[in-house]
Amino acid sequence: MSNVLMVCGHPNLNESVSNQGIISEFTRLCPQAEVRCLDRLYPDWKFDIAAEQQALRAADVIILEFPLYWYSVPALLKKWYEEVMAHGFALGSTGTALHGKRLLVSVTVGAPGEAYRQDGAMGHTVKEFLLPLLQSARLCGMEVLEPVCSTGMMFVPGVSTAADRERLEGLAREHAQRLCGAVARALGGGRMTVKAVRLYEQGFMTEPFAKGGEEGEDRFDPRVRYRSSLQNYVIDTGSEVILIDTGTPAEYPGMVPTPDSKIYIGSRVEDYVSALRTAGYTPEQVTKVVVTHKHEDHTGELRSFPNAKIYIGKADADALGLEGPNIVRATFSDGPYHNFPRSQVIAEGVRMVEAVGHTLGNSLIIAEDGGLFYMFHGDVTYTDEALYENKLSIVYEDRARARETLDRVRDFVRANPTVYLSTHTPLGIENLEALRVVDLEVPVESQPVGDVAFKTASGKYACAVCGYIYDPDQGDASQGVPPGTAFADLPEGWACPLCHQGKDKFSPA
Ligand SMILES: Cc1cc2nc3c(=O)[nH]c(=O)nc-3n(C[C@H](O)[C@H](O)[C@H](O)COP(=O)(O)O)c2cc1C
Repeated sequence: MSNVLMVCGHPNLNESVSNQGIISEFTRLCPQAEVRCLDRLYPDWKFDIAAEQQALRAADVIILEFPLYWYSVPALLKKWYEEVMAHGFALGSTGTALHGKRLLVSVTVGAPGEAYRQDGAMGHTVKEFLLPLLQSARLCGMEVLEPVCSTGMMFVPGVSTAADRERLEGLAREHAQRLCGAVARALGGGRMTVKAVRLYEQGFMTEPFAKGGEEGEDRFDPRVRYRSSLQNYVIDTGSEVILIDTGTPAEYPGMVPTPDSKIYIGSRVEDYVSALRTAGYTPEQVTKVVVTHKHEDHTGELRSFPNAKIYIGKADADALGLEGPNIVRATFSDGPYHNFPRSQVIAEGVRMVEAVGHTLGNSLIIAEDGGLFYMFHGDVTYTDEALYENKLSIVYEDRARARETLDRVRDFVRANPTVYLSTHTPLGIENLEALRVVDLEVPVESQPVGDVAFKTASGKYACAVCGYIYDPDQGDASQGVPPGTAFADLPEGWACPLCHQGKDKFSPA
């Protein structure tokens, strides 16, 4: 990520919590960026105008970093602006030095977010207070990007506590991650659009389910629950509409949550095709579908895209018995991609990467837009917490290779600014909306699970992987199990008729 300049207008960074935190995290995530802290470079407030103008000339993206003071920029930054953005440099008939550059305002604000609404205490949004600054940049021929803003960033020495400081430091890191995402996106020129296709929400999964794959489920607390959901994604490259997975089938009955459920995907938002339309696309527009793996909650509507080629790992295509002129069994013959040894080009900037473990034909997809990487990883982890804590879920077909894949994913996100797009946690949607870049050093903050209406046990058992419900009254004719067979009496080799998981993946429904 080159040609990024941050000018920090905080008048006293030594006393700062938020801006200092943002700068140190931003510098770590975007080491190529040049950061100029005006109070440190110019303790006497006497600027080297030529040096400042030269730094601006060299930049493609210019970040103005500051705390909001009296609804405006601090005096130090105002002085800098007035002196450096001189006639003949930034404006006037020969003052074209900033034309075409992008300006990104990064601001911290003391009062809480609810105060900065038209009906709130301040009567205006933060962006409205930034108007003179944003308009000045436009006057200088700059393209103004959406500001990155954090509210409630007030630390009062002697009044605020150590816990307040820690909370603010966390918010500052998160702010820096959003900023880094916005910069990467700006450098990419916003060529690509990625959207979530939202299918289920307000579910949960237990800690043993999400993290117990290597150490064993009993090492984790079944009372700890993470938020769960189900969403897939669509990539619009400008010339192609590419789906990553196709959700559950429209006729999927959903899951019934019980107090013992290991995973409950939540209540339905929309069926897949409707959700795709809500995201702005018709099935006919889709040119390619890339399947991360064979499970029914990722392949449910493969039938619905008449104009699409379907890319899927061979082992999973074979397991599903997929045949037809539109089925492409991925060969991964386009060489390594970063630290992944085998990959296949799907479209310009979009790669399918072999990532065996969760299933034997498992893949993940990485889309690169400028300096920013979107990782659609299927179920390499179920929660983002598991990515940060480096834990495998209990669902895999080859544990050793699932470990190898998770190691590679962690190495990749460490080395590249990556938005981690999960299928089974709403963090996937939240990461996308904020363009939040993964920082493995800063664990994601778990939000509490909302209220769930549990049902009592019924003798039925639900598959934790695909949601199939075994009903003892029905039995399972496909495997010769007569009606009236209790779940406990199913034969040893019995497996889920939909996704082929064993009995151990079932819990009472
Ligand atoms: C002189 C001064 C003026 C401020 N004016 C505002 C203001 O107009 N609105 C607001 O919400 N916060 C205001 N604040 C709070 C700061 O925005 C907040 O403390 C700052 O963003 C925290 O960043 P820091 O920890 O990097 O200093 C003001 C603070 C100071 C010192």
